[in-house]
Amino acid sequence: MSSENAIGVFDSGLGGLSAVKEFSHVLPNEKIIYFGDTGRVPYGNRSRDTITKYAFQDTRFLLENNVKMIVAACGTVSSVAGAELESKLCVPYTGVVNPTAFAAAHKTKNGKIGVIGTAATIGSHSYKLRLQKLNPEFNIFEMACPLFVPLVENGFICRDDQIVRLVIRRYLSELKDEGIDTLILGCTHYPLLSEAISDFMGEGVTLVDSGYETAVYSAKILREQALLNEDKTEKTPEFFVSDTPDDFKNVAGLFLGRDMEHRVTQIDIEQY
Ligand code: DGL
Repeated sequence: MSSENAIGVFDSGLGGLSAVKEFSHVLPNEKIIYFGDTGRVPYGNRSRDTITKYAFQDTRFLLENNVKMIVAACGTVSSVAGAELESKLCVPYTGVVNPTAFAAAHKTKNGKIGVIGTAATIGSHSYKLRLQKLNPEFNIFEMACPLFVPLVENGFICRDDQIVRLVIRRYLSELKDEGIDTLILGCTHYPLLSEAISDFMGEGVTLVDSGYETAVYSAKILREQALLNEDKTEKTPEFFVSDTPDDFKNVAGLFLGRDMEHRVTQIDIEQY
């Protein structure tokens, strides 16, 4: 495996581009091949079997493109199918759960940690199990926030928007009352709501962004395995989707935080 090969990043849709944004800061010399399963999104309310089947198809596509590492940017995939992926893949793998849980464990001072994610992520208790392995004394408070994904996808992200504030209050009041000091944003879409979430939770609560922590952890894995790309030129990511790419530019801009030079190709994921 050559260090010049790309890192394969995938997600149920385009939300994983919030992780790609972090990768482009943390690992600007790395080429990214991104697959977003836009034809079958969302994964967050599907069964374990379906999510696992989709995750393996997504990774087979990336492996066909000779990626040197696979990153599941999706909170749902990482939570539900992460262990199986890790045990079966022939290249280094990380999901978002381990690096994010590890970061949260280091940030908390009072040991009270909140976790928010899709129904599948919260139902798997992936973060809770991981955090309690790191420290059995931690108190973990979990909350599924299924309305956050459609809110973000419809552009409701502004901290002053009444609907955004209302939904955040509805989901997060309990966690706030428990006195958490750290909150894991366990879904690709939630970093876009971080200003509004922070306004509600208050300054004393640290938000942990899974995309950033995963990019930092991926850099560590590549360094340890001597797979960091030594070629210092900045690379342009290549994007693949399973539905029509017509709307890609607008939605991608939302998650990437900027317009990025890109090539986007539609593939048939069912054949993998
Ligand atoms: N990407 C998913 C996650 O991070 C959110 C969207 C979905 O439900 O597929 O969990």
